[in-house]
Amino acid sequence: MGNPVATLPSYDFLDADNPFDRLLQIGAESPLSWVPSLGGYLLTGYDNVLAALKSDKMRAANATQRFDQLSEAEQAALRPLRMSIDMWMGHVTAEGHHRFQKLLKRYFTPSSVNDLRPRVRELTGELLDAVAGRGRMEVVSELAYPLPANIIAEMFGMPVADRELLRAWSKQVGAVFQNADVERLTASQVGVLEMQDYLREIVADRRVRPREDLISMFTAAEREGLVNEDEIVANCVLLLFAGHETTMNVIARGLHVLMANPDQLALLKSRPELMRSAVEEVLRHAGPVGSVVREVIEPVTVCGYDLAPGAHVFLAVYSANHDPAVFPDPLRFDITRKNNRHLGFGMGTYYCLGASLARVESDECFRSLLSRFPDVRPASGAEAALRATVMGQRIDTLPVEF
Ligand code: HEM
Repeated sequence: MGNPVATLPSYDFLDADNPFDRLLQIGAESPLSWVPSLGGYLLTGYDNVLAALKSDKMRAANATQRFDQLSEAEQAALRPLRMSIDMWMGHVTAEGHHRFQKLLKRYFTPSSVNDLRPRVRELTGELLDAVAGRGRMEVVSELAYPLPANIIAEMFGMPVADRELLRAWSKQVGAVFQNADVERLTASQVGVLEMQDYLREIVADRRVRPREDLISMFTAAEREGLVNEDEIVANCVLLLFAGHETTMNVIARGLHVLMANPDQLALLKSRPELMRSAVEEVLRHAGPVGSVVREVIEPVTVCGYDLAPGAHVFLAVYSANHDPAVFPDPLRFDITRKNNRHLGFGMGTYYCLGASLARVESDECFRSLLSRFPDVRPASGAEAALRATVMGQRIDTLPVEF
């Protein structure tokens, strides 16, 4: 078959008020399509997305590839940023990726993550104490942001006084994935380099004074010759980026969707044992990841079309998670949903390393919040601020009363 772009339906998202509704509409019309504004294919439907996640003919696309379109001078100026992001575990060779996964799995074992549970509970309690007397709070900035940020800061062994730095760094890194202009990419580079310099000092300290933290695990691996300092600091930036905004959105959006479904909220309060399946349903129904991007590395046939190496394919996780063939009545938010095989953490080679941590954080946070402020409700006269692109959704503010 010739160039599939010529025969495939073509869609655009630039004019869509709600890109997620659009994803579902497109999924119902065509499993594979071409999206000019993304410069890539869009793949929808559970089975298709799952097969692509597991395919060894595609690899995780690296957002720095689009730096090739910049002028030579701009590329030279942004080289340090590119070099750092190119060292992220999903962007290196298959062997390097595997080596890093093995290393990080040493730290993120289910039992070590479960050991963090009391600390997550304690931190949540402190954040709720701070707002308890007020009867209202802004959930994103006062709970959903600081909880995962503090946990990551503790993993890095950062002193409490320095933790606000993470917020700025995390925002700056995000620009790389948002089609940002050169000015924002330059700001992003400043943030990444600052964070790396900061972490280098912690690395130097842990080489001589190891503790129980993640950086000490890395310095031990460095002694075994498994990783070097540049790789350590670059991948700590990845962990901040991958683990922080995502979890923040699950907590805030999860509460948002629970409040929008009062029957489900009441059910959860009366049966806290449903918390585990409630968190999975939040991840399926309102998870932060809309799509993940793959680059074709070997000729591959997708939905009957031959895709050539170099092509980019957007795997619509949101569409997969709302596929009626797998999730009956998919738009219904149902915390008792059985067999919830959602793809909110991806699947296969790049499956989320922080999935158990994110689950523990969301679970503990909802438990403490609902038992402490059982009558939590949207604040009167103030709206939640939500944004979505084909890549994902985020919630900027969520004012509540209790
Ligand atoms: C609810 C919160 C989270 C969601 C929804 C989420 C989602 C995802 C998804 C969909 C992927 C796969 C990307 C792909 O296939 O291209 C991924 C990968 C990853 N996530 Fe998460 N994530 C979350 C929290 C975390 C946390 C807390 C951490 C660590 C602190 C983390 C670390 C990672 C890493 C390192 C990868 C790359 C794995 C690899 O390349 O092998 N994530 N995440």
